Amino acid sequence: MEKTSEWLRSFNSNQVRDLNSIASLKKPTEKTTQTISITGGKGGVGKTSVSLKMAKELAAQGNKVLLIDCDYNLSNTAIKLGLPLSNTFYDLVSAEKSFQECLYQEGSFHLLSACNGSIDLFDASFRLEEIIIDIMTAHEKEYDYILLDCPAGLSRESLVLNAYCDHRILIVTPDRSSITDSYSLIKVLNKKFGVNQNHLLVNMVNTKPQYVKVIQTLSETVENFLGCRTKILGGIKKLDTQANNFDQYFLARGKNSHHENFLKVVHKLTDELSANGTEKGSQAFHPKRRIEQEVH
Ligand SMILES: Nc1ncnc2c1ncn2[C@@H]1O[C@H](COP(=O)(O)OP(=O)(O)OP(=O)(O)O)[C@@H](O)[C@H]1O
Ligand SMILES: [Mg+2]
Repeated sequence: MEKTSEWLRSFNSNQVRDLNSIASLKKPTEKTTQTISITGGKGGVGKTSVSLKMAKELAAQGNKVLLIDCDYNLSNTAIKLGLPLSNTFYDLVSAEKSFQECLYQEGSFHLLSACNGSIDLFDASFRLEEIIIDIMTAHEKEYDYILLDCPAGLSRESLVLNAYCDHRILIVTPDRSSITDSYSLIKVLNKKFGVNQNHLLVNMVNTKPQYVKVIQTLSETVENFLGCRTKILGGIKKLDTQANNFDQYFLARGKNSHHENFLKVVHKLTDELSANGTEKGSQAFHPKRRIEQEVH
């Protein structure tokens, strides 16, 4: 707890933090939990949908997974799962309930959802990033993965959470504004927090050339102008599903190309993470390297 506050206080407007020194502050040496933020800057690109499917799939593969909805007063995770809405996140913030009491549990998939237009939460005085980081540090030994479903935008709280996580998955769509917003996020994370590596997942892809163009544009720009690395996780097709059936179809496990493609994305991620930052298994995009990533 003390370490978290120290880390948060260590940011000031003119400083770029060295992530290695941050790592020594925030992580116990025996830590094996992987913390991953699902982010991207732009709204409506699929962050929540991917967070839920990723968390449930990692859990289905035998991992203990906590998904934290960080869109604290516009929460969509419970809605997408068809669960009743509750404002338990306010109960947690106001210390009326314990973390355990606020969790939704489905086997080894645990969800801490958030609020929907709660006036109490709006009026409450709290720092989201401190609360989320405290939850992560207090419970990390209980989980193999802790995923954060981040809100859109470049708020300080969201940036701090992205920087704190071991890994970031940026969800980008072929829309130029999504690519631009993701670049802005990568840039601020790099310039202000020293983050120099991110994962990229392209959502709502129509064609393979379109997918290739997105990863080339973003990866090359990020590499050339910021010297940052982009690890490509793959693409998800734009689904032709009615809005009222979308969540059910997107999240369902079954023998269909959408789910099978998503499994490849998850495997690519877990392979990368188990390679533990070494070059082995790395899928970092390099402009001159043949593009092997497929959209199935
Ligand atoms: N692969 C896809 N194919 C078609 N539509 C999609 C796809 N992914 C997401 N969508 C559409 O985009 C909507 C927004 O998705 P989602 O809520 O996951 O995005 P988000 O990035 O979390 O949004 P916000 O920024 O508001 O939190 C979905 O409800 C769905 O209608
Ligand atoms: Mg969302």
